[in-house]
Amino acid sequence: AVEYETIRVEQRGRVGWITLDRPEALNALNTRSMTEVVAAATAFDDAPDVGAIVVTGSEKAFAAGADIKEMEGKSGLEMSLSDHFGAWGRFAAVRTPVIAAVSGYALGGGCELALMCDIILASDRAKFGQPEIQLGVIPGMGGTQRLVRALGYYKAAELVLTGRMIDAGEAERVGLVSRVVPAADLLNEADAVARTIAEKPLPALYAAKAALDVALESTLAEGLRFERQAFFALFDTADQKEGMAAFREKRPPNFTNR
Ligand code: CAA
Repeated sequence: AVEYETIRVEQRGRVGWITLDRPEALNALNTRSMTEVVAAATAFDDAPDVGAIVVTGSEKAFAAGADIKEMEGKSGLEMSLSDHFGAWGRFAAVRTPVIAAVSGYALGGGCELALMCDIILASDRAKFGQPEIQLGVIPGMGGTQRLVRALGYYKAAELVLTGRMIDAGEAERVGLVSRVVPAADLLNEADAVARTIAEKPLPALYAAKAALDVALESTLAEGLRFERQAFFALFDTADQKEGMAAFREKRPPNFTNR
């Protein structure tokens, strides 16, 4: 079994939970925590009995960024040769739907980790921002690209160029979060959303997430072709036959994730 130092990992029913747990650094993401989050997420992705993953932090901090103290002394060459942040690509490539349950600070790499998830639930105490400019750098875990796609150019540019922090209400208005809930309800809501997803048929969940991802990185024509092929392919799954038979027979479906 893997020994995690910076996260807590638990499977509850069909939902995999990853809780960032470096309270002394407000869950700042160092190489160790990146390796652990990626290992836990890919292990859940490989588990046939996991249909949704939740990533969360504490009430005070989802994650206050990449670990500044770890990066401070490095040269550009060292950062490049070690492909610093490179492993996050494997987190973003997880096929299983991932829900970020965010309370407190989601700054820099913390905000970018949330942006790699499919659904962002925020507590009313969440604060988002990309403060890297104030450190003499820029977002390095996808912020400039995913914020522009999620919020549009002008809102993204304002956040990245000023480093200004926004609260949960503003984050919801600009489309950075899926939904805001009271802080006390955050984990229950995340669990409810994750369970709702996790009981859906896995082949369709994978196809839906893959098609949504293609929308962010292709032309409309390419995306439509991908969607149609994925839609056709699902007609070879047992769960499509079951889902449609259950509808016709007016009964709940009994999916087998095949
Ligand atoms: N890296 C390393 N350590 C961090 C950290 C980070 N990103 N954020 C917080 N910490 C540490 C602090 O150094 C402090 O440790 P010590 O007690 O040893 O001094 C501890 O966590 C608690 O933090 P504060 O005392 O600062 O707590 P606060 O409540 O006064 O302030 C805060 C909270 C406003 C979030 C402040 O901690 C802060 O500004 N943090 C840095 C935010 C930031 O700039 N993030 C971007 C990082 S760069 C990046 O993420 C690059 C990328 O694109 C991937």
